[in-house]
Amino acid sequence: MKCSYHPIPVVFSHAKGSCIWDPEGHKYLDFLSAYSAVNQGHCHPKVMRALVEQAERLTLSSRAFYNDKFPVLAERLTSLFGYEMVLPMNTGAEGVETALKLARKWGYEKKNIPKDEAIIVSCCGCFHGRTLAVISMSCDNDATRGFGPLLPGHLKVDFGDANALEKIFKEKGDRIAGFLFEPIQGEAGVIIPPDGYLKAVRDLCSKHNVLMIADEIQTGVARTGKLLACEWEDIRPDVVILGKALGAGVIPVSAVLADKDVMLCIKPGEHGSTFGGNPLASAVAIASLDVIREEGLTERAGQMGQEFRQQLMKVQQKFSGIIKEVRGRGLLNAVELNNKALFPASAYDICLQLKDRGILAKPTHDTIIRLAPPLCISSDELQTASKALSDVLELDLPKLQKQKPETDHSPVYHVCDRCGRNTNTSSDSDI
Ligand SMILES: Cc1ncc(COP(=O)(O)O)c(C=O)c1O
Repeated sequence: MKCSYHPIPVVFSHAKGSCIWDPEGHKYLDFLSAYSAVNQGHCHPKVMRALVEQAERLTLSSRAFYNDKFPVLAERLTSLFGYEMVLPMNTGAEGVETALKLARKWGYEKKNIPKDEAIIVSCCGCFHGRTLAVISMSCDNDATRGFGPLLPGHLKVDFGDANALEKIFKEKGDRIAGFLFEPIQGEAGVIIPPDGYLKAVRDLCSKHNVLMIADEIQTGVARTGKLLACEWEDIRPDVVILGKALGAGVIPVSAVLADKDVMLCIKPGEHGSTFGGNPLASAVAIASLDVIREEGLTERAGQMGQEFRQQLMKVQQKFSGIIKEVRGRGLLNAVELNNKALFPASAYDICLQLKDRGILAKPTHDTIIRLAPPLCISSDELQTASKALSDVLELDLPKLQKQKPETDHSPVYHVCDRCGRNTNTSSDSDI
């Protein structure tokens, strides 16, 4: 079967919590969580109950009318995350699109940016989805080439470099409506910015009257050991985008949060979605947030994440030539491998071996393995994964290296069409 993806060859048949079974009954531990969409664990009973109960009552009203479920979700989201308003969408990319439109509208109405000159600044290496506006900011040539013309009105800046951002704001600040960023870059390989970066960004956005737009689609809803990853530096963005785990891996739900002075720049009739805020998705999202709170999944992600990184660092000590770095926050973690020591194997090969040992993980770029299990994962299961990685490096990798033909496997660097930098483009970003 040919498709636009490059999956690990395993077929999901059913799943529960952190476990997945294939049609033959083989059991695996999930260390991807559908790119952090399944924070609550697969098929959580409370979420399933909410889904079924709501499906039997009402699934869709469209926004032409009201329904009695979305207001409950809206109240929950605004009070939980501390914003005055929420705009519901479906997929993450739609949430990002919504935030970009909102920022442009705000830029014209509130900042008096001249017509059609609004700029959005985003970060090199970012991933915000696959729509045309969103790929127009991508540094991944595979995501952009052949899809032109891309949208104008974007500038790029290095992620984690507050000085570079300040320079752009100083030069073009009067035209800049928003700065869009991931608090931790997930697809880029779990890249954590230097301490103080988010605070510096907050200060710069306030100083230059630029909307600070946090894409928390992958990092939000408890994944990093905080409800939002921006809480790691106690900052409050002007706009927050949520997705993925808001729907607990059951139904697509995304949401854009902002205060009235920003959100009300979009007037009735100017933006919408047939399915946004539908009662079925709303019921699921309410249950998803309930589960996060009732099961203490935020704290759990923090504790388990620490435990997991300690285990992984022990593996790193044992294979210090192969594992370059272990990094992460909460249960969003990555192991970066040394390309030369792996040669001629790749992170993808390591993931294939992990699969054979019952662990499902996915590479991002040639040398990085993201490890992001559901937040209900147990200590023992984390230990199982750490041991599997150790076994793969000790027992499987030497065999692989002997078997694999020595085709040139040095990382392929390309000049990014967007920012002109050298990037490792074998991103394997399948989302
Ligand atoms: C940070 C971030 N933003 C946006 C998206 C896009 O979400 P979706 O695939 O639901 O459109 C993703 C998906 O991985 C993501 O990680």
